[in-house]
Amino acid sequence: MNLTNNTGIEKLHMYIEASGEIVDHIPPDPANIAVVILAAGKGTRMRSKLPKVLHPLLGEPMIYHLLRAVRHTGIPPERTAIVVGYSGEEVANVVKKQGNYLIVYQDEQLGTGHAVKCAENELTKLENADTTHVLVLLGDGPLVKAHTLNRLIQSHLTSNPLVTLVTTEAENPYGYGRIIRDGKERFCQIIEEAELLPQQRNLKEINPSLYLFQGKWLWENLRRLEKHPAKGEYYLTDLPAMALKTIAADELHPVQTMKTDFEEVLGINDRVQLAEAEIIMRHRVLRQHMLNGVTIVDTASTYISATARIEADTILEPNTHIRGKCIIKKGCVIGPNTILVEATIGENCVINASMVENSTLKNNVSIGPFSHVRPGCMLEEGVYMGNFAEVSRAHIGADSKQSHFSFIGDATLGKKVNVGAGTITANYDGKNKNKTIIGDNVFIGSDSILRAPLTLGDDATTGAGSIVTKNVEPGVTVVGMPARPIRRKSVSENTENKEE
Ligand code: UD1
Ligand code: CA
Repeated sequence: MNLTNNTGIEKLHMYIEASGEIVDHIPPDPANIAVVILAAGKGTRMRSKLPKVLHPLLGEPMIYHLLRAVRHTGIPPERTAIVVGYSGEEVANVVKKQGNYLIVYQDEQLGTGHAVKCAENELTKLENADTTHVLVLLGDGPLVKAHTLNRLIQSHLTSNPLVTLVTTEAENPYGYGRIIRDGKERFCQIIEEAELLPQQRNLKEINPSLYLFQGKWLWENLRRLEKHPAKGEYYLTDLPAMALKTIAADELHPVQTMKTDFEEVLGINDRVQLAEAEIIMRHRVLRQHMLNGVTIVDTASTYISATARIEADTILEPNTHIRGKCIIKKGCVIGPNTILVEATIGENCVINASMVENSTLKNNVSIGPFSHVRPGCMLEEGVYMGNFAEVSRAHIGADSKQSHFSFIGDATLGKKVNVGAGTITANYDGKNKNKTIIGDNVFIGSDSILRAPLTLGDDATTGAGSIVTKNVEPGVTVVGMPARPIRRKSVSENTENKEE
């Protein structure tokens, strides 16, 4: 990468990360970078069967946030090795859903140094392996931003030390490895919490475990690590101090450090830290949506996944939950008390105290309060759904109304259908789900039961309380139980009747 030629304003990339971050810098060329993510540990302090990196953060496995930040630097999954061990298959299956990652098994958890070494075979097979720099990240550090990774890569490639490591100041450094510096503030070594001298305990500069190594040097020197007897582990944290000894003192400083905010490098070891990370991540996402033009009335009770997209001039009322890959177009009012899951919402929709799951709403749809759009629905433009309406696997045509308590399942409704209060599509016969097809302008009277499979032609009507078991021809009105067409008497019939 040639930094000097890249600084033109026209090369300045600006994009928004899903995690709610604006990245306004020149992404470095990722062709010479490979990544190792350590995720083999059980996470004992989580006290859980679920491997630590799969614990949900903002509704998705915490490692997904880290993988996303890495992808946003431009480094592809094919150059990213994930070291798994405890429940390795389970972790591998989950991360593979995000891309073609290199999965490396660490059979015995012999420490962070040993874990990185497990990736050697895979990463030295890559193109440009000899000139590759290796970024090491922790699977339990999901808050790091692509911006910081890019800064680390740029800084490292510019001054080309053996290792660049990120450091930060922690209010409460307990549990982290500490950075030890000499009288001239130069880096000396990292010491783990358990091995600190009493006078070193107050040192606030910590090692968040974000490193970028010259690959060749890394692979040559990992095998020189020695086991720490106390834990019986090989510590990756010993490598920077080894780098200092590798190069004669008069040469360029072989270890470079780069500061970042503590908030970005919080390590998650227990569920208290998981909750702290949740708050940080949640507010980061909310903030970005607000800066993009979304009104969030109450940030304390609004929950938005990192993968949701929301257009400007939409208002989110209190206690609104937006989960998964939702898309919400402009001008909507969502909430209060609304849950959207993997939903696509058109422009100017109103969804009040309701739930919409895995469904699509076109423009100007109004729902609620207290309605439920279950998975597999498509509500066309202008659909109105009032109280206690439930729809499931249904296509509702434009301007149709379902104002009061009712259930429509496995159904296709045409345009301008009126669904009366208490209407039920009896779609399940105990074995199969059967379809109901309702034409345009159909008027369904209150308390109708539509026994599927069933077709109601355009302009058909059902009387209040009818139980409809047979198809209804277009324009025909049916009433009763079971419902029968109302016969419109002809003039001659009327005359005959009079004569009787
Ligand atoms: C590590 C660092 C510490 C740093 C802290 C930052 C070491 C020795 N210590 O400590 O300096 O301040 O992270 O959060 O590196 N892992 C494996 N295989 C192993 C051991 C660990 O894959 O054999 C993985 C874990 O799954 C975890 C990560 O490495 O994702 C860190 O391990 P953890 O045991 O949490 O290290 P810390 O004690 O937090
Ligand atoms: Ca940790």
